[in-house]
Amino acid sequence: MALHRLLAMEMGVPDPGTLDQFYAELGFRGGPRRWGGVDAEDQILLCEAPYRQLKSLRIACHDEADLAAAATGLEALGVSSRQSNGTLTVVDPINEWTVTLEPQAEFVPTPLERRLMNYPGQRNRVNTRASVITEAEARKPRRLGHVVLGSPEPQKTTALFQALGFRVSDMVAGGVATFMRCSPDHHNLLVAPGSVPYLNHYAIEQEDFDSVFKAATTYLGAHGNERQVAGPGRHQIGGNVFWYMLDPAGNIFEFFTDMDQIIDDAAWTPEDWRTPDAWSVWGNKTQPEVFFAPDDMQAIVAGWHAAHP
Ligand SMILES: [Fe+2]
Repeated sequence: MALHRLLAMEMGVPDPGTLDQFYAELGFRGGPRRWGGVDAEDQILLCEAPYRQLKSLRIACHDEADLAAAATGLEALGVSSRQSNGTLTVVDPINEWTVTLEPQAEFVPTPLERRLMNYPGQRNRVNTRASVITEAEARKPRRLGHVVLGSPEPQKTTALFQALGFRVSDMVAGGVATFMRCSPDHHNLLVAPGSVPYLNHYAIEQEDFDSVFKAATTYLGAHGNERQVAGPGRHQIGGNVFWYMLDPAGNIFEFFTDMDQIIDDAAWTPEDWRTPDAWSVWGNKTQPEVFFAPDDMQAIVAGWHAAHP
């Protein structure tokens, strides 16, 4: 696979300072305006913008041959790109997101200190208390894992990311929404319909089930249930455990863990999901309406049209 990692996203919001506080509170490192989890620095970059929006994505590839292949693929779509300083940059003509491919070394995750779990017939933790009880502080978020983007032209947008080297993992309703990967993660990107381009949500990987639940309940305990969006649950598409909440800028963000991993493209068969209950294996099985119509969608639509009279 030409691509191997989602490096970063840049997000514009009216008041980036509120998000600086938020990422510090979640246990991210870095700042201000540049935040990363345990596994990667500078994964979430912030800037000021009149309404909340995705500005750019940075993706890691292996070498210059990947840049050349992407340039050729984009050209076939009639989209021009620019190569400079060993990177390739394209401004998506529909959504105006800037996407940069850059050759980088492969990602080696920091080894995880596994929490031992007991199962029937397999006792892994005996004569000791569970580490989730005894550890001094909550484990920190690992990394930005994926973004979900709304586009008025989802199929053309999907084609653009495929030209860049993204692989399709699964789709919904014949390609109305498409899950794509630029790493072994089942998805680093989902492109879905939107009346104007917008950031639907972004997802932060936590170490395990306990870390997702601990981080989510701590956050909701501090800020109130009005920040709750959906979860906990386990997606059928991607297999990840999830919990969705609102950040102080009005973005939906997700804590997730245990996502399907695809290391052999030939071994994975993308499916076209058409079942209404694919949202979760357990709990609420249908996707809440707020994902299709975020509370601030009117402000985003107005902001987009004000910038495109
Ligand atoms: Fe997600």
